[in-house]
Amino acid sequence: MIIRRETAPDRPEIFAVVEAAFPDSVEAQLLRELFAAREYLPQLSLVAEGAGGEILGHVITTRGWIGSTPSLGLGPIAVAPQRQRQGIGSALMRASIDAANAMGESTLVLLGSTDYYPRFGFVPADSMGITSPDPSWGSHFMALALDAHVPGVHGHFKYAEPFNAL
Ligand SMILES: CC(C)(COP(=O)(O)OP(=O)(O)OC[C@H]1O[C@@H](n2cnc3c(N)ncnc32)[C@H](O)[C@@H]1OP(=O)(O)O)[C@@H](O)C(=O)NCCC(=O)NCCS
Repeated sequence: MIIRRETAPDRPEIFAVVEAAFPDSVEAQLLRELFAAREYLPQLSLVAEGAGGEILGHVITTRGWIGSTPSLGLGPIAVAPQRQRQGIGSALMRASIDAANAMGESTLVLLGSTDYYPRFGFVPADSMGITSPDPSWGSHFMALALDAHVPGVHGHFKYAEPFNAL
C-alpha cells in the first residue's frame, strides 16, 4: 500500500469508499463540496492505494481558521469497510500530519473519537484555547500542535465553508 495525493481520476473510487464507510450519511456530499471549495488544499487530499491500484482509503484536510489565524481542519477520513482496522487510517493520519508539517502549518483540528485520535497526539482543543463551532462536541473536538505551532494562538475555530451547511 502507498499513500499519495489524490488525482482527478481517483474521484469516483474515493466517493465509493466514502459512501461505503459512511452509509446514509452526509460525508460524501460534504467531500464533494470540499473538493470544489476555495479552502481545498491539493497537498492535503490523500489516498491509500492498494497493490492492485485500488483506492482503500481517503482523507482530506482543508483550510480553516482559529480566529483570523489560518489553521487546518481534518476530515472526513474514510477506509473501505472490508479494509478497516488494518492500519490504513493510521497511515493516512500520519501522512496528513507529515504533509501539514512540511507545509509549515501550525495547528490541525478535527472532530472525532477520543479513543482513536489521541494516539496521533491530538488533545481536546479547548485545552489549547481553541473553541469549537458547536459546544456540544465537547472533548471530541481535538487539536494537534504541529511543528510550526505558535503558542498562544487561540480563539474560535472556523471550518471551511461547506462544513457550515451541515
Ligand atoms: C475511523 C477509520 C478511518 C479508522 O481507519 P482504520 O484503518 O480502520 O484504523 P487503523 O487500522 O489505523 O486503526 C485501528 C484502531 O483504531 C480504532 N478505531 C478505528 N475506528 C474507530 C472509531 N470510529 N472509534 C474508535 N476507535 C476506532 C480501532 O479500535 C483500532 O484500535 P486498536 O489499534 O487499539 O485496535 C475507519 O475505521 C473508518 O473509515 N470508519 C468509518 C468512517 C469513520 O467513522 N470515520 C471517522 C470520522 S470522520
